[in-house]
Amino acid sequence: MFDSGFGGLTVARALIDLAPHEHLVYVGDTGRYPYGPRDLGQVAAFAMQIGRWLVDEHRVKLLVVACNTASAAALHRLRRELPVPVVGVIEPGVRAAAKATGNRRVGVIGTVGTIRSGAYQRAIATLPVPLQPTFAACPGFVEFVERGESDSDQVVVLAERLLAPVREAGIDTLLLGCTHYPFLARTIADVVGRDVVLVSSADETAFEVRAVLQRNGLARRSDQPGELRVFSSGDTAWFREVGERLFGGRFGTVSAVCWSDPEPLTPDGEVPGAAGAASG
Ligand code: DGL
Repeated sequence: MFDSGFGGLTVARALIDLAPHEHLVYVGDTGRYPYGPRDLGQVAAFAMQIGRWLVDEHRVKLLVVACNTASAAALHRLRRELPVPVVGVIEPGVRAAAKATGNRRVGVIGTVGTIRSGAYQRAIATLPVPLQPTFAACPGFVEFVERGESDSDQVVVLAERLLAPVREAGIDTLLLGCTHYPFLARTIADVVGRDVVLVSSADETAFEVRAVLQRNGLARRSDQPGELRVFSSGDTAWFREVGERLFGGRFGTVSAVCWSDPEPLTPDGEVPGAAGAASG
């Protein structure tokens, strides 16, 4: 499982609670966070690099892309190119929001990269009963979480400004389309109002992982708890200190990992050469 940083720990927590016998290798790419403002081709390249590393070095049997921005950029490519099942967070999140809403008006918040990619718009369009979505990018939220400042006054000021469009849209459900955002849930709930249901993709993603493992005969048969191994491409002491607090459990050692920056790839949703074809 990987994310740009601490965000994927929301998914890790849900998965460990649901499938405690599975071993989990977690990578926080904190040396290169935030992914949200980056070019999606670069995020796609990071995602492929980390996915390959997890398959080659750790022999993982399934990959969880616990990051919306990376799911938006590279889920289809990862599924095509890796020899293991790959689970992302966007479709599970949309399913969870569709189950939760009563009036079908759903707010979707995420990073600039996720919202701009159109991945949520495409996933919502496949639902059997349509939703009336309102989208808002929330640049800056991820950085607050990574700095360990989940409820400072500045987060409240930023949230008031960024969440105004979804608050005014009459939503009854807000989909947290970034795995970091559940760590800001109290602030977000205060701003959008306590009558709006906040939905994260973590639980639904964990259910999907368990279902895929079972369907493919990959579930670990043991009554011993699985091991958690944690890697960070940034400051490992910081990752341990803040990460354990957010995760609500011990990591043991956080190991360092380092990658050189790869060449950007064509992100999902874009046809290679389409820009050239259009202009020519
Ligand atoms: N947790 C990542 C996501 O779900 C955050 C991306 C970032 O680093 O900006 O999109």
